[in-house]
Amino acid sequence: MGQKRTLVIGAHGKIGQLFCERAQRSELSICAMVRSAEQREYFERLGTPCVMGDLEADFAHALDDCTDVVFTAGSGGHTGAEKTILVDLYGALRSIEAAEERGIEHFVMVSALRCEAPLSAPPGLRHYMVAKKLADEHLMASPLPHTILRPGLLSDEAPSGMVCTDPGRATTRSISRANVAHCILTALESGGGNGRTIDLLDGATPITEVFHA
Ligand SMILES: NC(=O)c1ccc[n+]([C@@H]2O[C@H](COP(=O)([O-])OP(=O)(O)OC[C@H]3O[C@@H](n4cnc5c(N)ncnc54)[C@H](OP(=O)(O)O)[C@@H]3O)[C@@H](O)[C@H]2O)c1
Repeated sequence: MGQKRTLVIGAHGKIGQLFCERAQRSELSICAMVRSAEQREYFERLGTPCVMGDLEADFAHALDDCTDVVFTAGSGGHTGAEKTILVDLYGALRSIEAAEERGIEHFVMVSALRCEAPLSAPPGLRHYMVAKKLADEHLMASPLPHTILRPGLLSDEAPSGMVCTDPGRATTRSISRANVAHCILTALESGGGNGRTIDLLDGATPITEVFHA
């Protein structure tokens, strides 16, 4: 395959949009996976290439000309467990399998902090944590070079460029979506996925230090 190109699954989401804007200002070549004409128009106005794809339908074609994948899709808190299973779990599993079939070079998964222990989460979040845990385990068991990012509670604060990767030492339970977007870009720019799982909260360590360590 020639040029590097990153497919963004969940591109029109809050993290997805922040990541795409940041990627547009970088050297990274991206393709936004969208699921409506309005979303396609939004990215076309920005000059971002896009492809139609729905995690609940056929979307594997979206990975065809890509070397890297970012998965930052999610059904959101307003939908029920059924959508969590279809999108956050099954959509993620199918994305990983499509990536494996195409020899994707780096799969960056936006997961969730402490999803390895779903029963420790509040009851209403447990099914979501199970979905994230199983998706992460599927990725870890695959031969795909990958990075798993596990943000805490997401906020819409301005980007600080600084994070904490040790929840035991963190002074907050949250991280700004803009900082997560910055981490995704830095993970991709720092080269191939080396199978790291990185917990993310706002903090005092420069993001570049985390990924170039
Ligand atoms: N909320 C938190 O505190 C928290 C904490 C840790 C991790 N996370 C994770 O962070 C990630 C993104 O967060 P966010 O705030 O950016 O979420 P968001 O704004 O809700 O974005 C989610 C994206 O997923 C897309 N999506 C949903 N169903 C889909 C489907 N069937 N096919 C294709 N795309 C689909 C949505 O598409 P539409 O735009 O078309 O709706 C949207 O673009 C998720 O993976 C979430 O699990 C969240």
